[in-house]
Amino acid sequence: MSLDSSFLMKSAPRVELFDFHGVSMISYFTDNWDNVQNFQARPDDILIATYPKAGTTWVSLILDLLYFGKTDPERQTSIPIYGRVPFLEMDFPSFGSGKDLADNLPTSPRLIKTHFPVQFVPKSFWEQNCKIVYVGRNAKDNMVSYFHFDRMNMCQPEPGDWNSYLHRFMEGKMVFGPWYDHVNGWWKKKQTYSNLHYMFYEDLAEDTGREIDKLCSFLGLSPSVEEKEIVESKVQFDSMKKDDMANYSTVGAMDFKISPFMRKGKVGDWRNHFTVAQNEEFDEDYKKKMKDPLLQFRTDI
Ligand code: A3P
Repeated sequence: MSLDSSFLMKSAPRVELFDFHGVSMISYFTDNWDNVQNFQARPDDILIATYPKAGTTWVSLILDLLYFGKTDPERQTSIPIYGRVPFLEMDFPSFGSGKDLADNLPTSPRLIKTHFPVQFVPKSFWEQNCKIVYVGRNAKDNMVSYFHFDRMNMCQPEPGDWNSYLHRFMEGKMVFGPWYDHVNGWWKKKQTYSNLHYMFYEDLAEDTGREIDKLCSFLGLSPSVEEKEIVESKVQFDSMKKDDMANYSTVGAMDFKISPFMRKGKVGDWRNHFTVAQNEEFDEDYKKKMKDPLLQFRTDI
């Protein structure tokens, strides 16, 4: 597969948020709506679902290596991660659509990424009872990461200053809507849809090997000890940061001089951004929105 991303989105300007079925979105992720909704999933497709900046690329690479690391090693050095794991709802001018990329994936299973809130997921994924891996990340670090991403990615809406960004995040006026609804919506889905593995960025950071074991047991995979060690070493933050096929350095719309895609990869970086007053205000509001005692995020490990 050839993906010419050098142009990628130098020509696609920053766009404005708008309300789309009750969720703040940008046109790059809604323009192909009808086709995306009609996507024909296959029973062995695996959907990786996340709120943006929750660790999508990390888990995408883990799954890609688990499935294809041994059988197709060339894949890792020749196809960027966004070609191996297409972003379903993406529709950038001249880059093509994620839906077409997914349709044309030659692999089995097909690994497909989405940032959709649960209610936007095309119905064939449910009908085919596809396996879904959801990754959640604590709101504070997730927001910090999103802020820096919006600064460096010229396709995203202007982030503005940190304080206004924090308030916009609390209001849910972010691309793909409120973090709160996203993590809760997917969490609720888990109660009725058993083929959903809900995992946390913080757990992955704390013990990558343990989380890979859990993923393997969910996916029905049993890699050898050696294979697992190779996967673990390739998905360390420093390895991924250096890996041009995983670090998005091939995407022209991202200005790494402003901030790299593989930025810090830490739990707790929010402490370097929130003032004491912002933290108090945020926590107060968080308590009102996050009522389910079973859904707990760790802001430190
Ligand atoms: P930071 O901006 O906090 O560094 P996504 O892939 O969903 O866009 O998420 C990107 C975030 O995940 C970035 O967070 C990035 O550094 C982090 N990340 C990616 N790979 C990682 C890894 N191997 N270990 C830890 N964090 C990782």
